[in-house]
Amino acid sequence: MAYLQIAIDGPAGSGKSTVAKEISKQLGITYLDTGAMYRAVTLEALNHSVDLQNPDALKKIVDQMTLNMTITKIFVNNVDVSEAIRTPEVSRNVSVVAMDAYVRAEMVKIQQKIALGQAVIMDGRDIGTTVLPNATYKFFLIADPIERAKRRRLELQAKGFEASLDDLVKEIIKRDELDSNREISPLKKADDAIEIDTTSHTIDEVATMILDYVKGLRK
Ligand code: DC
Repeated sequence: MAYLQIAIDGPAGSGKSTVAKEISKQLGITYLDTGAMYRAVTLEALNHSVDLQNPDALKKIVDQMTLNMTITKIFVNNVDVSEAIRTPEVSRNVSVVAMDAYVRAEMVKIQQKIALGQAVIMDGRDIGTTVLPNATYKFFLIADPIERAKRRRLELQAKGFEASLDDLVKEIIKRDELDSNREISPLKKADDAIEIDTTSHTIDEVATMILDYVKGLRK
């Protein structure tokens, strides 16, 4: 039996996770935030002070950690790191870790295994291109970098972090560049993905648009 698979890709701050979470709730299907997995590896590597550019060191980190996810939480070695993976330090370093071939291969394996036995909605950068190339629906969300930085600032403020809009725009553009130009599974719209510009839409509007496609009300 083929399960429903919805792939949501796009750059940082395009609204992927919030939209994906909302759709998972409405359809009653599992949601997987794949970015959280790369963040968890980054956090673990930072906590062990390893050189993030050293593939052997990263391999050791990945092989020695256990990763567990629920729809809202992520655990490393049974410790809830859902908050700890969202710090600016992890955000600044995650693109480098996400470039590593072994890290990617191991994360993709876990992601594909989760999609084997159930309907899923996953968000990330390479879901439609690499993780679920035969997904039932593929969406690629984009948004203006200034709008994305504003969204990030709100998220950070809600967690007690202050950041200047200027710095956030720079960080977002740098992360886009690193994610789009890496060798393995770069951030890229799959040929058969539907592109949605979320700049001037609310989360609810984007979620409704996607649900309309899934229900066949929009083509
Ligand atoms: O979605 P996010 O900002 O939490 O993702 C964190 C980083 O992880 C992002 O810079 C790129 C990387 N990532 C990836 O390479 N592949 C994915 N499927 C998801 C995220």
